[in-house]
Amino acid sequence: MSLQATQAESTSRRRRHHAGRTAESHAAFLLPHLRPGMALLDLGCGPGSITVGLAAAVAPGGTTGIDVDPEPIDGVTVVAGDATHLPFPDDSFDAIHASAVLQHVPDPLAVLREARRVARPGAVIGVVDADWDGELLYPADDVIRRSMEIARKLREGTSPFVGKQLRHLLTEAGFVRAEGFARVTHHGTVDEVAGVSSFTASLFRYPAAVDRAVAEGWATAAELEEMSLAWTAWGEQPGAFLARFWCEAVAWAE
Ligand SMILES: C[S@@+](CC[C@H](N)C(=O)[O-])C[C@H]1O[C@@H](n2cnc3c(N)ncnc32)[C@H](O)[C@@H]1O
Repeated sequence: MSLQATQAESTSRRRRHHAGRTAESHAAFLLPHLRPGMALLDLGCGPGSITVGLAAAVAPGGTTGIDVDPEPIDGVTVVAGDATHLPFPDDSFDAIHASAVLQHVPDPLAVLREARRVARPGAVIGVVDADWDGELLYPADDVIRRSMEIARKLREGTSPFVGKQLRHLLTEAGFVRAEGFARVTHHGTVDEVAGVSSFTASLFRYPAAVDRAVAEGWATAAELEEMSLAWTAWGEQPGAFLARFWCEAVAWAE
């Protein structure tokens, strides 16, 4: 398979993985605070599978999504842009949401300060992110364990451990009454294990990840291929199990 084809396949697998999320599954902590008529902003909306559920909750209020790599979403105004520099005036939104975005940016506080700027008085914000600080993983041999270390290194320059800080960061950004929660995502059925194993196996074949890991001297290309194969084999084990924390927080603009 060519480099471009591998990259395209990896991107489309990642998008399919994200597109399985819904407002009910990933924004249940925010839904009770949404009301019809609110103007809602979804930061890093991606394929929009969560956004459409949020949009339904605030209709007839309008929903805007912003993403650096935007895709059209039914019934939502999608804007191309960086959440660190929002192209909206102060006091524009009654509700703001961000799912699985802050872990990907170098400065999550800068994004939340921008969110605070565009939040109207009384607005609610709900943010949710995985925290990669520890997972329950079985079985895990030396190759799998080493692959997890490489995966952590590959996230350097972003914010993989932001989950536990959400409540703190919302407060730092100027929101009040921040409440934090956590849920565990688990991969413990044949389909779930297959999904996470193919997602993780593809990470160690993703050209940009391979180039970086090799250039940094973290692993050779052959070792990364061994890690990818180990994850594929992991996904075929009848007793494989993986669980990870997802942290959530809501807060308000005074
Ligand atoms: C893991 S996806 C999550 C998508 C969606 N929120 C969800 O939970 O299904 C992360 C999204 O954030 C977007 N993103 C990353 N950095 C961003 C930034 N600085 N500003 C806006 N969007 C960003 C990516 O393009 C991607 O669509």
